[in-house]
Amino acid sequence: LFESVELAPRDPILGLNEQFNADTRAGKVNLGVGVYYDDEGRIPLLKAVHKAEVARVEAAAPRGYLPIEGISAYNKGAQRLLLGAGNPLLESGRVLTAQSLGGTGALKIGADFLKWLKPDANVVISNPSWENHRALFERAGFTVETYPYYDAATHGLDFNGMTAALNALPEGTIVILHACCHNPTGVDPTFDQWKEIARIIKQRDLVPFLDIAYQGFGEGIEEDAAVVRYFADQDITMLVSSSFSKSFSLYGERVGALTLICSSSEEGERVLSQLKRVIRTNYSNPPTHGGTIVSMVLNTPELYDLWATELAGMRERIRSMRQQLVEKLKAEGVNKDFSFVLEQRGMFSYSGLTKEQVDRLREEHGVYAVSSGRICVAALNSRNIDYVAKAIASVLA
Ligand code: LMR
Repeated sequence: LFESVELAPRDPILGLNEQFNADTRAGKVNLGVGVYYDDEGRIPLLKAVHKAEVARVEAAAPRGYLPIEGISAYNKGAQRLLLGAGNPLLESGRVLTAQSLGGTGALKIGADFLKWLKPDANVVISNPSWENHRALFERAGFTVETYPYYDAATHGLDFNGMTAALNALPEGTIVILHACCHNPTGVDPTFDQWKEIARIIKQRDLVPFLDIAYQGFGEGIEEDAAVVRYFADQDITMLVSSSFSKSFSLYGERVGALTLICSSSEEGERVLSQLKRVIRTNYSNPPTHGGTIVSMVLNTPELYDLWATELAGMRERIRSMRQQLVEKLKAEGVNKDFSFVLEQRGMFSYSGLTKEQVDRLREEHGVYAVSSGRICVAALNSRNIDYVAKAIASVLA
Protein backbone atom coordinates (compact mmCIF):
# COMPACT_ATOMS: atom_id res chain seq x y z
CA LEU A 1 0.00 0.00 0.00
CA PHE A 2 2.61 2.56 1.03
CA GLU A 3 5.46 1.46 -1.26
CA SER A 4 5.12 4.38 -3.61
CA VAL A 5 5.09 7.04 -0.87
CA GLU A 6 8.04 9.38 -1.29
CA LEU A 7 9.87 11.03 1.56
CA ALA A 8 8.52 14.57 1.99
CA PRO A 9 10.91 17.45 2.67
CA ARG A 10 11.05 18.76 6.23
CA ASP A 11 8.67 21.61 7.01
CA PRO A 12 10.65 24.81 6.35
CA ILE A 13 9.85 26.19 9.83
CA LEU A 14 8.79 23.36 12.15
CA GLY A 15 11.37 21.05 10.54
CA LEU A 16 14.03 23.38 11.93
CA ASN A 17 12.80 22.59 15.45
CA GLU A 18 13.43 18.91 14.78
CA GLN A 19 16.98 19.68 13.65
CA PHE A 20 17.51 22.08 16.55
CA ASN A 21 16.34 19.54 19.14
CA ALA A 22 18.70 16.94 17.71
CA ASP A 23 21.67 19.36 17.86
CA THR A 24 23.86 18.56 20.89
CA ARG A 25 25.88 21.80 20.91
CA ALA A 26 25.48 23.70 24.20
CA GLY A 27 25.41 27.23 22.74
CA LYS A 28 22.81 26.55 20.03
CA VAL A 29 20.18 29.26 19.46
CA ASN A 30 16.81 28.75 17.76
CA LEU A 31 15.86 31.84 15.76
CA GLY A 32 13.75 29.73 13.41
CA VAL A 33 10.19 29.27 14.63
CA GLY A 34 8.06 32.27 15.61
CA VAL A 35 8.01 31.80 19.35
CA TYR A 36 8.55 34.45 22.02
CA TYR A 37 11.11 33.57 24.69
CA ASP A 38 11.77 35.70 27.76
CA ASP A 39 15.18 37.02 28.73
CA GLU A 40 15.96 33.71 30.44
CA GLY A 41 15.30 31.94 27.15
CA ARG A 42 12.06 30.35 28.37
CA ILE A 43 8.60 30.36 26.83
CA PRO A 44 6.71 32.38 29.44
CA LEU A 45 3.56 31.21 31.17
CA LEU A 46 1.76 34.53 31.40
CA LYS A 47 0.48 35.48 34.86
CA ALA A 48 -2.99 36.22 33.48
CA VAL A 49 -3.06 32.76 31.88
CA HIS A 50 -1.83 31.10 35.06
CA LYS A 51 -4.47 32.81 37.20
CA ALA A 52 -7.20 31.72 34.80
CA GLU A 53 -5.83 28.17 34.81
CA VAL A 54 -5.78 27.97 38.59
CA ALA A 55 -9.39 29.17 38.72
CA ARG A 56 -10.36 26.66 36.05
CA VAL A 57 -8.75 23.74 37.83
CA GLU A 58 -10.42 24.78 41.10
CA ALA A 59 -13.78 24.90 39.37
CA ALA A 60 -13.28 21.20 38.42
CA ALA A 61 -15.49 21.73 35.39
CA PRO A 62 -16.61 18.74 33.29
CA ARG A 63 -15.22 18.40 29.75
CA GLY A 64 -18.21 17.83 27.52
CA TYR A 65 -18.17 18.54 23.78
CA LEU A 66 -18.11 22.18 22.86
CA PRO A 67 -20.50 23.50 20.22
CA ILE A 68 -19.10 23.03 16.69
CA GLU A 69 -18.17 26.72 16.52
CA GLY A 70 -16.62 26.69 20.00
CA ILE A 71 -17.10 28.73 23.15
CA SER A 72 -19.48 31.63 22.60
CA ALA A 73 -17.72 33.96 25.09
CA TYR A 74 -14.38 33.17 23.45
CA ASN A 75 -15.73 33.99 20.02
CA LYS A 76 -17.21 37.25 21.28
CA GLY A 77 -13.90 38.10 22.94
CA ALA A 78 -12.07 37.43 19.67
CA GLN A 79 -14.50 39.73 17.85
CA ARG A 80 -13.96 42.53 20.37
CA LEU A 81 -10.20 42.25 19.91
CA LEU A 82 -10.59 42.58 16.16
CA LEU A 83 -13.29 45.23 15.94
CA GLY A 84 -12.91 47.10 19.24
CA ALA A 85 -15.31 47.00 22.19
CA GLY A 86 -18.38 49.09 21.44
CA ASN A 87 -18.20 48.63 17.68
CA PRO A 88 -21.87 48.51 16.53
CA LEU A 89 -20.97 45.66 14.16
CA LEU A 90 -20.62 43.39 17.20
CA GLU A 91 -24.38 43.52 17.80
CA SER A 92 -25.35 43.49 14.12
CA GLY A 93 -25.40 39.73 13.56
CA ARG A 94 -23.10 40.31 10.57
CA VAL A 95 -19.97 39.09 12.35
CA LEU A 96 -19.57 35.40 13.07
CA THR A 97 -16.64 33.65 14.66
CA ALA A 98 -15.60 30.04 15.10
CA GLN A 99 -12.98 29.02 17.64
CA SER A 100 -10.23 27.28 15.69
CA LEU A 101 -7.14 25.16 16.20
CA GLY A 102 -4.71 28.06 16.20
CA GLY A 103 -4.33 30.53 13.36
CA THR A 104 -3.44 27.67 11.01
CA GLY A 105 -6.73 25.96 11.86
CA ALA A 106 -8.60 29.20 11.12
CA LEU A 107 -6.89 29.47 7.73
CA LYS A 108 -7.67 25.84 7.01
CA ILE A 109 -11.40 25.98 7.74
CA GLY A 110 -11.54 29.31 5.89
CA ALA A 111 -9.75 27.75 2.91
CA ASP A 112 -12.05 24.71 2.85
CA PHE A 113 -15.11 26.93 3.12
CA LEU A 114 -13.89 29.16 0.27
CA LYS A 115 -13.07 26.16 -1.92
CA TRP A 116 -16.65 25.00 -1.49
CA LEU A 117 -17.99 28.53 -2.12
CA LYS A 118 -15.70 29.62 -4.95
CA PRO A 119 -14.15 26.50 -6.48
CA ASP A 120 -12.76 28.36 -9.51
CA ALA A 121 -11.14 31.27 -7.70
CA ASN A 122 -7.37 31.56 -7.36
CA VAL A 123 -5.52 32.60 -4.23
CA VAL A 124 -2.74 35.20 -4.11
CA ILE A 125 -0.25 35.59 -1.30
CA SER A 126 2.47 38.17 -0.77
CA ASN A 127 5.97 37.57 -2.10
CA PRO A 128 7.33 36.45 0.29
CA SER A 129 4.76 35.11 2.73
CA TRP A 130 4.56 32.73 5.66
CA GLU A 131 5.73 29.41 4.18
CA ASN A 132 2.57 27.57 5.21
CA HIS A 133 0.19 29.94 3.37
CA ARG A 134 0.98 28.50 -0.04
CA ALA A 135 1.02 24.89 1.14
CA LEU A 136 -2.21 25.26 3.06
CA PHE A 137 -4.23 26.84 0.23
CA GLU A 138 -2.76 24.46 -2.34
CA ARG A 139 -3.70 21.51 -0.16
CA ALA A 140 -7.25 22.94 -0.01
CA GLY A 141 -7.27 22.69 -3.82
CA PHE A 142 -6.44 26.24 -4.90
CA THR A 143 -3.89 27.49 -7.39
CA VAL A 144 -1.73 29.93 -5.43
CA GLU A 145 0.09 32.85 -7.01
CA THR A 146 1.96 35.78 -5.53
CA TYR A 147 1.74 39.57 -5.61
CA PRO A 148 4.87 41.73 -5.19
CA TYR A 149 5.40 42.82 -1.60
CA TYR A 150 8.93 43.10 -0.31
CA ASP A 151 11.52 45.32 -1.96
CA ALA A 152 14.93 43.92 -1.06
CA ALA A 153 16.70 47.06 -2.28
CA THR A 154 14.92 49.34 0.20
CA HIS A 155 14.10 46.70 2.83
CA GLY A 156 10.60 48.14 2.54
CA LEU A 157 7.32 47.63 0.77
CA ASP A 158 7.01 47.48 -3.02
CA PHE A 159 3.72 49.36 -2.81
CA ASN A 160 3.50 50.22 -6.51
CA GLY A 161 4.19 46.63 -7.50
CA MET A 162 1.64 45.38 -4.99
CA THR A 163 -1.17 47.71 -6.03
CA ALA A 164 -0.50 47.20 -9.74
CA ALA A 165 -0.79 43.44 -9.23
CA LEU A 166 -3.97 43.73 -7.15
CA ASN A 167 -5.47 46.00 -9.79
CA ALA A 168 -4.87 43.34 -12.44
CA LEU A 169 -6.46 40.43 -10.56
CA PRO A 170 -9.64 38.83 -11.85
CA GLU A 171 -12.75 39.60 -9.84
CA GLY A 172 -13.30 37.15 -6.99
CA THR A 173 -9.60 36.36 -6.45
CA ILE A 174 -8.86 35.52 -2.83
CA VAL A 175 -6.17 37.85 -1.48
CA ILE A 176 -4.28 36.80 1.65
CA LEU A 177 -3.09 39.86 3.58
CA HIS A 178 -1.12 40.08 6.83
CA ALA A 179 -3.08 42.57 8.95
CA CYS A 180 -0.03 43.50 11.03
CA CYS A 181 3.56 42.36 11.68
CA HIS A 182 4.03 40.79 8.24
CA ASN A 183 5.52 37.30 8.42
CA PRO A 184 8.35 36.91 7.38
CA THR A 185 9.46 40.48 6.57
CA GLY A 186 8.17 42.58 9.47
CA VAL A 187 7.28 45.22 6.83
CA ASP A 188 3.70 46.54 6.96
CA PRO A 189 1.92 49.04 4.68
CA THR A 190 1.23 52.45 6.25
CA PHE A 191 -2.36 53.19 7.17
CA ASP A 192 -2.76 55.36 4.04
CA GLN A 193 -1.43 52.53 1.93
CA TRP A 194 -3.93 50.18 3.55
CA LYS A 195 -6.70 52.60 2.57
CA GLU A 196 -5.62 52.34 -1.05
CA ILE A 197 -5.42 48.53 -0.78
CA ALA A 198 -8.97 48.47 0.66
CA ARG A 199 -10.17 50.71 -2.17
CA ILE A 200 -8.76 48.34 -4.80
CA ILE A 201 -10.16 45.27 -3.02
CA LYS A 202 -13.60 46.84 -2.99
CA GLN A 203 -13.49 48.26 -6.50
CA ARG A 204 -12.23 45.02 -8.05
CA ASP A 205 -14.49 42.82 -5.97
CA LEU A 206 -11.61 40.79 -4.54
CA VAL A 207 -12.01 38.53 -1.50
CA PRO A 208 -9.75 39.62 1.36
CA PHE A 209 -8.58 37.05 3.88
CA LEU A 210 -6.77 38.93 6.62
CA ASP A 211 -4.35 36.90 8.69
CA ILE A 212 -3.64 38.42 12.12
CA ALA A 213 -1.34 36.17 14.14
CA TYR A 214 0.67 38.86 15.93
CA GLN A 215 -1.91 41.33 17.25
CA GLY A 216 -0.26 43.28 20.06
CA PHE A 217 3.31 42.71 18.87
CA GLY A 218 3.40 45.72 16.54
CA GLU A 219 2.16 48.98 18.04
CA GLY A 220 -0.47 47.72 20.49
CA ILE A 221 -3.58 45.57 20.73
CA GLU A 222 -5.94 48.23 19.37
CA GLU A 223 -3.50 49.80 16.91
CA ASP A 224 -2.63 46.46 15.31
CA ALA A 225 -6.28 45.80 14.49
CA ALA A 226 -6.71 49.13 12.69
CA VAL A 227 -6.70 47.50 9.26
CA VAL A 228 -9.40 44.97 10.14
CA ARG A 229 -11.50 47.80 11.57
CA TYR A 230 -10.97 49.97 8.51
CA PHE A 231 -11.95 47.17 6.11
CA ALA A 232 -15.05 46.52 8.24
CA ASP A 233 -15.92 50.24 8.23
CA GLN A 234 -15.75 50.16 4.43
CA ASP A 235 -18.38 47.40 4.44
CA ILE A 236 -15.96 44.96 2.89
CA THR A 237 -17.06 41.37 3.39
CA MET A 238 -14.06 39.32 4.45
CA LEU A 239 -12.49 36.52 6.41
CA VAL A 240 -10.07 37.05 9.28
CA SER A 241 -7.88 34.39 10.89
CA SER A 242 -6.67 35.22 14.40
CA SER A 243 -4.05 33.40 16.41
CA PHE A 244 -3.60 33.70 20.18
CA SER A 245 -0.64 31.33 20.22
CA LYS A 246 1.90 34.13 20.55
CA SER A 247 -0.14 36.82 22.30
CA PHE A 248 -1.17 34.44 25.11
CA SER A 249 1.99 32.32 24.90
CA LEU A 250 -0.27 29.28 24.49
CA TYR A 251 1.34 27.70 21.44
CA GLY A 252 0.48 24.09 22.25
CA GLU A 253 -3.13 24.80 23.18
CA ARG A 254 -4.03 25.69 19.56
CA VAL A 255 -6.05 28.80 20.26
CA GLY A 256 -7.26 30.76 17.26
CA ALA A 257 -10.42 32.02 15.62
CA LEU A 258 -11.93 32.45 12.18
CA THR A 259 -14.13 35.52 11.87
CA LEU A 260 -16.29 36.31 8.85
CA ILE A 261 -17.89 39.67 8.25
CA CYS A 262 -21.04 39.29 6.19
CA SER A 263 -23.35 41.84 4.61
CA SER A 264 -26.43 41.04 6.71
CA SER A 265 -27.38 39.01 9.78
CA GLU A 266 -29.52 36.72 7.63
CA GLU A 267 -26.50 36.04 5.42
CA GLY A 268 -24.41 35.49 8.55
CA GLU A 269 -26.79 32.79 9.74
CA ARG A 270 -26.53 30.91 6.44
CA VAL A 271 -22.75 31.28 6.31
CA LEU A 272 -22.31 29.98 9.87
CA SER A 273 -24.45 26.94 9.10
CA GLN A 274 -22.13 26.03 6.20
CA LEU A 275 -18.95 26.82 8.13
CA LYS A 276 -20.14 24.44 10.84
CA ARG A 277 -20.31 21.65 8.25
CA VAL A 278 -16.70 22.35 7.29
CA ILE A 279 -15.62 22.17 10.94
CA ARG A 280 -17.68 19.07 11.70
CA THR A 281 -16.03 17.18 8.84
CA ASN A 282 -12.53 18.38 9.79
CA TYR A 283 -12.29 17.91 13.56
CA SER A 284 -15.89 18.01 14.81
CA ASN A 285 -15.48 20.69 17.48
CA PRO A 286 -12.57 22.46 19.18
CA PRO A 287 -10.88 21.48 22.47
CA THR A 288 -11.91 23.06 25.76
CA HIS A 289 -8.85 23.99 27.79
CA GLY A 290 -7.02 26.71 25.87
CA GLY A 291 -10.23 28.29 24.66
CA THR A 292 -11.62 28.47 28.19
CA ILE A 293 -8.44 30.11 29.48
CA VAL A 294 -8.35 32.73 26.72
CA SER A 295 -12.04 33.36 27.17
CA MET A 296 -11.60 33.91 30.92
CA VAL A 297 -8.79 36.39 30.30
CA LEU A 298 -10.68 38.27 27.57
CA ASN A 299 -13.86 38.46 29.63
CA THR A 300 -12.48 39.32 33.10
CA PRO A 301 -11.39 42.99 33.24
CA GLU A 302 -8.69 42.39 35.87
CA LEU A 303 -7.16 39.51 33.88
CA TYR A 304 -7.49 41.40 30.61
CA ASP A 305 -5.53 44.36 32.00
CA LEU A 306 -2.85 42.06 33.37
CA TRP A 307 -2.61 40.30 29.99
CA ALA A 308 -2.41 43.60 28.09
CA THR A 309 0.45 44.71 30.36
CA GLU A 310 2.29 41.41 29.87
CA LEU A 311 1.83 41.61 26.11
CA ALA A 312 3.19 45.16 26.13
CA GLY A 313 6.21 43.85 28.03
CA MET A 314 6.86 41.23 25.33
CA ARG A 315 6.49 43.87 22.60
CA GLU A 316 8.94 46.20 24.33
CA ARG A 317 11.51 43.48 24.96
CA ILE A 318 11.48 42.58 21.26
CA ARG A 319 12.05 46.25 20.38
CA SER A 320 14.99 46.42 22.71
CA MET A 321 16.45 43.26 21.14
CA ARG A 322 16.13 44.86 17.69
CA GLN A 323 18.01 47.91 18.93
CA GLN A 324 20.73 45.85 20.56
CA LEU A 325 21.17 43.57 17.56
CA VAL A 326 21.74 46.56 15.28
CA GLU A 327 24.25 48.06 17.73
CA LYS A 328 26.08 44.80 18.32
CA LEU A 329 26.39 44.02 14.61
CA LYS A 330 27.94 47.43 14.15
CA ALA A 331 30.29 46.85 17.08
CA GLU A 332 31.33 43.54 15.48
CA GLY A 333 32.51 45.54 12.47
CA VAL A 334 29.68 44.62 10.08
CA ASN A 335 29.72 47.23 7.29
CA LYS A 336 26.19 46.68 6.11
CA ASP A 337 23.66 49.06 7.64
CA PHE A 338 21.17 46.96 9.60
CA SER A 339 19.09 49.90 10.86
CA PHE A 340 16.13 48.63 8.78
CA VAL A 341 15.67 46.02 11.53
CA LEU A 342 14.38 48.84 13.75
CA GLU A 343 11.60 49.69 11.30
CA GLN A 344 10.31 46.12 11.11
CA ARG A 345 7.39 45.12 13.31
CA GLY A 346 6.51 41.94 15.18
CA MET A 347 8.63 38.94 16.04
CA PHE A 348 10.61 38.68 12.85
CA SER A 349 13.36 40.35 10.98
CA TYR A 350 13.98 39.62 7.36
CA SER A 351 17.70 39.92 7.78
CA GLY A 352 18.81 39.81 4.15
CA LEU A 353 21.02 36.80 4.94
CA THR A 354 21.25 34.42 2.00
CA LYS A 355 20.40 30.73 2.17
CA GLU A 356 24.13 29.93 2.15
CA GLN A 357 24.75 32.31 5.05
CA VAL A 358 21.83 30.78 6.97
CA ASP A 359 23.32 27.31 6.35
CA ARG A 360 26.68 28.47 7.68
CA LEU A 361 25.05 30.05 10.73
CA ARG A 362 23.51 26.70 11.56
CA GLU A 363 26.42 24.45 10.64
CA GLU A 364 29.27 26.53 12.03
CA HIS A 365 27.57 28.27 14.97
CA GLY A 366 24.42 26.31 15.88
CA VAL A 367 22.30 29.40 15.18
CA TYR A 368 19.09 28.36 13.43
CA ALA A 369 17.17 30.68 11.09
CA VAL A 370 14.66 30.10 8.27
CA SER A 371 16.38 29.65 4.90
CA SER A 372 14.70 32.83 3.60
CA GLY A 373 16.88 34.76 6.06
CA ARG A 374 14.04 35.31 8.53
CA ILE A 375 15.21 35.45 12.11
CA CYS A 376 12.99 35.46 15.18
CA VAL A 377 14.09 38.52 17.16
CA ALA A 378 11.79 37.38 19.99
CA ALA A 379 14.21 34.51 20.66
CA LEU A 380 17.16 36.82 21.33
CA ASN A 381 18.05 37.60 24.93
CA SER A 382 20.79 39.21 26.97
CA ARG A 383 22.61 35.86 27.20
CA ASN A 384 22.66 34.88 23.53
CA ILE A 385 22.66 38.18 21.65
CA ASP A 386 26.45 38.69 21.72
CA TYR A 387 26.98 35.17 20.43
CA VAL A 388 24.38 35.64 17.67
CA ALA A 389 25.83 39.01 16.61
CA LYS A 390 29.31 37.47 16.39
CA ALA A 391 27.95 34.50 14.41
CA ILE A 392 26.13 36.76 11.95
CA ALA A 393 29.20 38.97 11.59
CA SER A 394 31.32 35.93 10.83
CA VAL A 395 29.07 34.66 8.03
CA LEU A 396 28.88 38.17 6.55
CA ALA A 397 32.65 38.65 6.60
C1 LMR B 1 6.12 30.85 12.37
O1 LMR B 1 5.94 31.49 11.32
O2 LMR B 1 7.25 30.50 12.75
C2 LMR B 1 4.97 30.53 13.25
O3 LMR B 1 3.79 31.04 12.71
C3 LMR B 1 4.89 29.11 13.60
C4 LMR B 1 4.42 28.27 12.47
O4 LMR B 1 3.44 27.55 12.66
O5 LMR B 1 5.02 28.31 11.39
